[in-house]
Amino acid sequence: MKIFLDTADIEEIRIVARWGVLDGVTTNPTLFAKTSGATYEEVLKEICTITSGPVSAEVVAEEVEGMLKEGRAFAKIAPNIVVKVPMSEEGLEAMSRFAEEGIKTNCTLIFTANQGLLAAKAGASLLSPFVGRLDDINQDGMIVIRELAEIVAIHELDTEVLAASIRNPLHMTQAALAGAHVATLPFKVLQQMVHHPLTDKGIVQFRSDWDKARKALAASNGKASAGAAKAPAAAKSGS
Ligand code: E4P
Repeated sequence: MKIFLDTADIEEIRIVARWGVLDGVTTNPTLFAKTSGATYEEVLKEICTITSGPVSAEVVAEEVEGMLKEGRAFAKIAPNIVVKVPMSEEGLEAMSRFAEEGIKTNCTLIFTANQGLLAAKAGASLLSPFVGRLDDINQDGMIVIRELAEIVAIHELDTEVLAASIRNPLHMTQAALAGAHVATLPFKVLQQMVHHPLTDKGIVQFRSDWDKARKALAASNGKASAGAAKAPAAAKSGS
């Protein structure tokens, strides 16, 4: 299963890339709005120097020609750019046009399996159902992941289910079990996945036991060498 980082924060992306678990990045206008000092294009360019995996860049136009214009410009930034297009009638048309042009797309804002099925048919290479936002309105977001993963498998559709709007480590486990091909996670959730209180406690305990053992060894070696230094004098006095 692939893990994408859901952020436009360059430092977070660098850290996760160093961990060796980064398969790609997803961004959106809200995530870009949290950054400062660079244009969206500059941020995307920088991200593409850190990962060669898919980097999703989201269009904001709502009409087809506008989406195509923005998406084509994103696609020129780097070969691993994937154009993120919202689920809508115009979005479907734009995705099918991008597919004809060989530009990969990630269909975003999917909330039902049917929306995902349509996006797959329009040629999206990634389908992004939003788990957390469905949970927020008291619906089980994971059901959409499971249904869509099953539909993709049954009909051998050439696309991947990307579990998005992941809010906690449990979402990640459930998405993996539900058959998502990819999950995109905020940095904080990835950190939460790394840590466990017993792991952290165990690391501290092992370090402390190690230090105690070394001190004890140093002390016993010290006694032994002091004893050895005294030994000849003792031998002399005995003769
Ligand atoms: C990623 O592609 C989505 O834009 C993102 O996961 C949405 O997450 P949110 O619902 O926490 O904003």
